[in-house]
Amino acid sequence: MTTTTRLLGPLTSPVTLAGLDLPNRFVMAPMTRFRSPGGVPTAEVAGYYRRRAENGIGLIVTEGVLVDHPSAGHETTVPRMTAGPAEEGWRRVTSEVHAAGSRIAAQLWHMGSEREPVDGYPSWTPSTMSVADIGTLVAAYAEAARVAVRAGFDAVEIHAAHGYLLDEFLWPHTNRRTDRYGGGPAGRAAFPAEVISAVRAELPATTPLIVRFSQFKERDYTARIAESPDELAALLSPLVSAGADVLHASQRRFWEPAFDGSPLNLAGWAKRITGLPTITVGSIGLTREFPVSAGMDELVSRLGSEYDLVALGRILLGNPAWARLAGAGRLDEIRDYTKAHEETYF
Ligand SMILES: Cc1cc2nc3c(=O)[nH]c(=O)nc-3n(C[C@H](O)[C@H](O)[C@H](O)COP(=O)(O)O)c2cc1C
Repeated sequence: MTTTTRLLGPLTSPVTLAGLDLPNRFVMAPMTRFRSPGGVPTAEVAGYYRRRAENGIGLIVTEGVLVDHPSAGHETTVPRMTAGPAEEGWRRVTSEVHAAGSRIAAQLWHMGSEREPVDGYPSWTPSTMSVADIGTLVAAYAEAARVAVRAGFDAVEIHAAHGYLLDEFLWPHTNRRTDRYGGGPAGRAAFPAEVISAVRAELPATTPLIVRFSQFKERDYTARIAESPDELAALLSPLVSAGADVLHASQRRFWEPAFDGSPLNLAGWAKRITGLPTITVGSIGLTREFPVSAGMDELVSRLGSEYDLVALGRILLGNPAWARLAGAGRLDEIRDYTKAHEETYF
């Protein structure tokens, strides 16, 4: 047995995640790629995900997929979760991933204020939405979940991170509402919780609902939705009561503590607070030394206590076979991450 096989061993064992059997603990993190003209994932998109599935990634989380509402996003090459051609495209994606023995979750996305008002349609934000608008979007998420189930997805992930619409409700800086959808943590979590509840109602019992959240925003890496574990608990509790099965705690570096006074990372706190399984992410494996480094030791030693699954983002762009190569000790075949990999697609 090679050193790397031994080191990675705990990550390559099968696991059941909220009722869903997974072949290993590796997750592909959601990454927007702009390869779905008209919102329809192509055969190339199916091949891109299948390659990661064939090479040791047990659970793929798709790039953000827009829910069906004009306010959701402006990009024409970002995929959508709609009946018709997009649903057909997704069915090809899920069946190719399944044929490779892996599982796949659809990440449902609404861009909120990050949507550019290209066609004169205004952006929707916590400050611009009426209670009726909130109901409209809850229904749009539920419809997207129905399409995802029909298209063969094994799980659904709600994107409530990084400064997009649902996160804009969670963050006091962007949620200035004075009605029941604003104010303290329970109010700020109310709309995301309604979305979770509506989506959960559309999913079979063995189809996990994952919620992705973060402290940081794309435009502000120092932003925080919670200043303390207690505040985080107050935000997460309504999401869990609404039906979240798994929490995907997005941070930029997995080893960084979420709060002063404890080494626990954000996934670690989410797991401690809620008891739910969690996924960690953040700068894992970006250099070829990683599979034999202290970083790898740390990642594995915290598995089980702080998180159950480990998501890889950028390293998989230039290395679809990272997990297989790392596990086999073939480190010289791994390419260090460079920004240029974001321009490639294979
Ligand atoms: C090109 C690119 C696109 C991304 N798109 C999304 C997205 O659609 N949804 C999301 O939740 N995160 C997105 N992210 C964040 C990643 O999922 C991940 O959290 C981040 O890259 C950190 O992991 P890494 O250090 O392993 O890359 C994106 C990241 C990159 C690099």
